[in-house]
Amino acid sequence: MMAKVIIARKKSELDAGILHYRENNETISLVPTMGALHEGHLNLVKLAKQKSDRTIVSIYVNPAQFAPGEDFEAYPRSENDDISLLIEEKVDLIYIPDPKSMYNVHHATKIIVGGVAEGLETDHRPTFFEGVALIVTKLLNRVTPDYAIFGEKDYQQLATIRRLVDDLDIPVEIIGAKIARDNHGLALSSRNKYLDSHGLKIARQLNKIMISYASMMSKGANVDKATQTARAELLESGFSSVDYIEVRSPNSLTILEGGVLNSPARLLVAAHCQGVRLIDNYPIN
Ligand code: PAF
Repeated sequence: MMAKVIIARKKSELDAGILHYRENNETISLVPTMGALHEGHLNLVKLAKQKSDRTIVSIYVNPAQFAPGEDFEAYPRSENDDISLLIEEKVDLIYIPDPKSMYNVHHATKIIVGGVAEGLETDHRPTFFEGVALIVTKLLNRVTPDYAIFGEKDYQQLATIRRLVDDLDIPVEIIGAKIARDNHGLALSSRNKYLDSHGLKIARQLNKIMISYASMMSKGANVDKATQTARAELLESGFSSVDYIEVRSPNSLTILEGGVLNSPARLLVAAHCQGVRLIDNYPIN
């Protein structure tokens, strides 16, 4: 008989599920999501299932990580489809907290991560990582998983969460999952739904341009010149603006000063197309 997936909306329902798993000495993975699930999320779920006995997926569109004027209201929501996909993936528990239960009216705590969380995304979304750090800490505290899985597409987010967990002694192992891409190499994202066919054509140039410049820099091209030319090429390909295209060290995300690379690095990009902000990153080896 197929085990029934638990859908927990109340903290007490989540607690009951976790207690049951822990009584059986089972390990737990958490996959935090904001719903609108696609193949990329399902890859995280598959990785979680390999890692642990039980897999919990949370679905919560976290208002704290959206600045005023961003797409919180319009963010794609597809709860019924998400639940069906997760049932197919045979997850054990889906945690969909009631939004009112997440931040109580007296909430007054901020978590500010420095270092890896500075620059790049923060230059354009100054409160984004505060919101992410808060919700991830709350979810980790509520679920107390052994593993938590995050995608490498949000590379700076992953680095920020690793820093947060290490700095605050949160007892969980953070696992990064490779970027899931469509057949044209475009990194999968819930926001790709906003693009029409012309927008998709433009968006699919992003990874091609990144691969070509990552390869040039790995062969000795000057980093400043290469990123400047790559930026110009993105704009020529139809992107309306480029928030950043930068080369950083792969773990600490330290700025690498101009010149030629002599150790592995990461190329990170955020660019806009048809009002959609696309982010992506590539290793430079
Ligand atoms: O990457 C996301 O989907 C979100 O930032 C996360 C980690 C689920 C926190 O809301």
